[in-house]
Amino acid sequence: LSSMKLPSRPELIDFEGVSMIHYFTDNWEKVKNFQARPDDILIATYPKAGTTWVSYILDLLYFGNGAPERQTSQPIYTRVPFLESCFKVIPSGTELADNLPTSPRLIKTHLPVQLVPKSFWEQNSRIVYVARNAKDNAVSYFHFDRMNMGEPEPGDWNTFLQTFIEGKKGFGSWFDHVNGWWEKKLTYSNLLYMFYEDLVEDTGHEVAHLCSFLGLSTSVEEREKITKGVQFDAMKQNKMTNYSTIPVMDFKISPFMRKGKVGDWKSHFTVAQNEQFDEVYKQKMKNTTVKFRTEI
Ligand code: A3P
Repeated sequence: LSSMKLPSRPELIDFEGVSMIHYFTDNWEKVKNFQARPDDILIATYPKAGTTWVSYILDLLYFGNGAPERQTSQPIYTRVPFLESCFKVIPSGTELADNLPTSPRLIKTHLPVQLVPKSFWEQNSRIVYVARNAKDNAVSYFHFDRMNMGEPEPGDWNTFLQTFIEGKKGFGSWFDHVNGWWEKKLTYSNLLYMFYEDLVEDTGHEVAHLCSFLGLSTSVEEREKITKGVQFDAMKQNKMTNYSTIPVMDFKISPFMRKGKVGDWKSHFTVAQNEQFDEVYKQKMKNTTVKFRTEI
């Protein structure tokens, strides 16, 4: 991975009606035909909604007391393969997932619900979806695109915000993503829909919630230990969870573990941008019951 170099910033492409970048569609035949297992746990998110956080919580719940070298020498992105990723210089997500020695397998995806490989539904695998309010999600995605050379050029904040509103970002529109997955909950019961804001407000409560969804009888002491270990500062210091081992990310521009806050959007949105956004939001969210908090 240390020799990983990507040629230049990728362009957006249209893929089955969703804006995507080729790193996540190049392996599509294998992604589409991926063989899920009944005990797989899929962690699904729109990018920058708290994927790494929930991945690490699940990893500790299942494997925190197992082989110590997993926690000390395996970065989180190798423990939890990114299903649709295909960066050529490292094994693809499907290859990594196929070769995971552990059970259950924890697998990460950013795919909108309609593009998820059908075997996950057929196998009735458990799925944890994490959603984050649109404003903070946009700000986090902006800074991520600035520092990650594997992402399209974000432009300045206003340019980025307009493309976010139009859904012209990798993995498409935030609105379609959160709404599509919310709808899925109506017909697929093995899906837990979580919110980043709840995790920030009371991590311990959400860890307990995850345990009950997953049928885990993790002790109170163990849960408290995990809750402490997954706080922002702990994960920022931890080389296995802070992405410092990925060279395409330039932490001098912005670190992966950036702020970890609810409401940071207030330091980015102008009054005019906020009014515009609220107007669009009302339109795009008028037919859904999902409710987000932009402050806690
Ligand atoms: P910010 O850019 O707002 O700081 P993902 O893992 O989906 O890429 O999401 C990354 C976002 O989640 C970043 O948001 C990151 O700081 C935040 N995050 C990661 N771990 C966190 C934690 N333990 N507590 C709070 N936020 C966390």
